[in-house]
Amino acid sequence: MGEVGSGALQNCSGAVPGRGALKSMEKTFVEFFAGIGLIHQALAELGWSAVFANDNDPKKARVYRENFPGVPFSHLDIRTVPWDSVPKAHLATASFPCIDISQAGYREGIHGSDSGLVWTFLDCLAALDSAGKKPEFVLLENVANLLSLHGGAALDSLLGRLADLGYAFDVVQVDAKHFLPQSRNRVFIIGVPRDLCQKAQFFKDHHVRRYKVREAYMRNPDLPWYFCDFPELPKNSVPLQRILEPLGDAAPEWFNPERLSYFWSLLEIDHEKRLRHLMDSGVSATFTAVRRLRRRRKREQIFNLRFDGLASCLRTPKGGSSTQYVVQAEHGKLRVRRLLGIEAARLQGVCLESSAHPFKLSGTEQDIRFAFGDAVCVPAVNWVVRNSIDTILHASDTRRTPTQLPLLEFNPKPSHASNATRLP
Ligand SMILES: C[S@@+](CC[C@H](N)C(=O)[O-])C[C@H]1O[C@@H](n2cnc3c(N)ncnc32)[C@H](O)[C@@H]1O
Repeated sequence: MGEVGSGALQNCSGAVPGRGALKSMEKTFVEFFAGIGLIHQALAELGWSAVFANDNDPKKARVYRENFPGVPFSHLDIRTVPWDSVPKAHLATASFPCIDISQAGYREGIHGSDSGLVWTFLDCLAALDSAGKKPEFVLLENVANLLSLHGGAALDSLLGRLADLGYAFDVVQVDAKHFLPQSRNRVFIIGVPRDLCQKAQFFKDHHVRRYKVREAYMRNPDLPWYFCDFPELPKNSVPLQRILEPLGDAAPEWFNPERLSYFWSLLEIDHEKRLRHLMDSGVSATFTAVRRLRRRRKREQIFNLRFDGLASCLRTPKGGSSTQYVVQAEHGKLRVRRLLGIEAARLQGVCLESSAHPFKLSGTEQDIRFAFGDAVCVPAVNWVVRNSIDTILHASDTRRTPTQLPLLEFNPKPSHASNATRLP
């Protein structure tokens, strides 16, 4: 771990209202932009209970309610949610829309019509604060491009607002590929009680805080940073093959000869050479491919293969994003098909089988692909929260924390999702 800068902090010792009242309660959270509930799934595995959820997409809300039936769910547009209907909780989460931030999206930025809803969420925190119901912790999640947008100005403005609301924070980048065979690099902003950082914080170099986060720190050394002690990121042990449905040759999902020749015709030239070479050598291998909208030989589309054993980042069809395919070469024969919704679900780490409470999927195949493309990778969220907020909460032992945090004496109730195992 290295250190840069001094990061002198001012005014960081204010007490957090209501701290004492949190003792001996269970860990509760309110979630905004709840979608189908994969943040919920990750938190439930850690013993958290949702006391309020909001999302205005009726299809996703149906999946959420089927999986987490006891949670008071608001279908309203977040801009019309009456803040007094949001109960007190220890944590508020916002996996807010990425469409204006993502490189594949509209690029309207942090004040865009969708991604800009994060400000509404932050207004909610301010309202909760005024009502004496401010959550101690906040978790924001979005695409990695949030770190670069407008030269970092978007991130800086979010951090400034969190500081104004009385939070200190850590900013980390975690890629789902450390947990499952999906490349999905995401930023998490973890807001913690400001009185955790009573003294200057030195930047803690770590794989989860690479140069973009360091740059953010260097631009804002006087903001209330609180660097959590993350362990090394794990190494994924789930091969792509374990994610895929074992479909027989006759399954209608496989491309017919006509579509197969279409696939070959649009394959990136270098990838085509490599694939032909592999097939000629009789090697059996499975890849993922994405179809991108790109001009080549006067065509609009191109297929790119991945040779690293990962699926590309799951996406929704919004914003010109790509569809994902499974490509299998076996004994000189090639089979290609679209990635199934159920496979997208597994790539996000939900347990569909071998569990007392398998995650229920509903809607059309397109709905499922859409919902999981927009969701989060469950074990990545679990890892982030476990090693930040949960660690702080568990640190009633002062040897483990620089503060006198009393923190919760909780006894996590086994949640209905807590026994979930990930994959067979
Ligand atoms: C990135 S997704 C979050 C997905 C979620 N983490 C999950 O596990 O499914 C953003 C969510 O914001 C919701 N959303 C977009 N605009 C909204 C609005 N005006 N009010 C409430 N929710 C909204 C979308 O329906 C979508 O589910």
